[in-house]
Amino acid sequence: MLHQLKYQIENEDELDEIVAGLLKPEKTISPKYFYDERGSRLFEKITALPEYYPTETELGIMRDSIDEIVALVGEQASLIEFGSGSSLKTRILLEHLDKLAAYVPVDISEEQLLASATELRADFPNLEVLPVLADFTRPFDLPSPTVMPLKNLVYFPGSTIGNFTNEAALSLLQVMHQEAGAGGALLIGVDLQKDPKIIERAYNDSAGVTAEFNLNMLRHINREYGADFDLKHYSHSAEYNEDEGRIELRLIADTKQLINIGNERIHIGKNEGILTEYSHKYTLESFAEMAGKAGFEVKRVWVDQERLFSVQYLERS
Ligand code: SAH
Ligand code: AVI
Repeated sequence: MLHQLKYQIENEDELDEIVAGLLKPEKTISPKYFYDERGSRLFEKITALPEYYPTETELGIMRDSIDEIVALVGEQASLIEFGSGSSLKTRILLEHLDKLAAYVPVDISEEQLLASATELRADFPNLEVLPVLADFTRPFDLPSPTVMPLKNLVYFPGSTIGNFTNEAALSLLQVMHQEAGAGGALLIGVDLQKDPKIIERAYNDSAGVTAEFNLNMLRHINREYGADFDLKHYSHSAEYNEDEGRIELRLIADTKQLINIGNERIHIGKNEGILTEYSHKYTLESFAEMAGKAGFEVKRVWVDQERLFSVQYLERS
């Protein structure tokens, strides 16, 4: 049964949020609007691109460290994943944590969430899979597994944490701290600072998939929220901001545009950008400091040989 709490995702609230972002001094739309059915498929294509190092690197770290992870997690945990997507990395956990109480994937992208839950149920018939369709930046309810969990393991792979401002990332870590509960833990993928050329290449792939992913956000907003962005007038930009330690994605208008959305008419200037995503890259120290503020202690960090990416096991301090 899908805990399809669709009412947790209110289209009207979302429309207000999109309009408010477009009225900011720098026009901004949250990256969560990348993920309609097509957006999720495009993200899957990104993860297989030769330039996009995070997915392959994180998978490698997970495979190399799985025995240690299993020993830290112990038995009968409930695995709660934020932004589960295709649950690809999760499969490594599910294959090795054979006495899980349940798997609770939480995602905003309905079709992909349903499809992954169906596949996981077929592949892991003894596992209770309890998908939750929700925006995890807003309050949402988690289902109770049939088997009483001995602890909660919150899983947040992919460095999706980097898509939030430092303030929002801290709030999200605080929510995860609460969801982990007494004795619980957080297993999180955290992308690391490195040569900016490697990062810029990862977000400006030669096949143009990231550009298509970025542009798809406007298609999604036109369809779901009745806007009239003319897609042919926007192009993808991804530049590394060294001062902030993040890559910044924008959609740049090639001529003046007038957008109708909700009750607003929004003017976009020639060459003006709409900010669609930050992807922060951390140092081990900067991430540990933020995690500490959220009440977590970094218990174990695994990195690949080139120190591109990290997987970290955090406990409540
Ligand atoms: N965890 C996967 C997918 C990362 S892509 C991986 O590591 O490869 C980010 C995922 O988070 C997408 O599946 C997207 O639909 C989901 N997501 C993004 N913002 C969200 C939000 N606010 N609430 C719920 N899910 C969100
Ligand atoms: C989901 N998130 C961590 C990806 C990232 O790398 O920040 C989204 C993405 N945007 C462009 N490419 C991938």
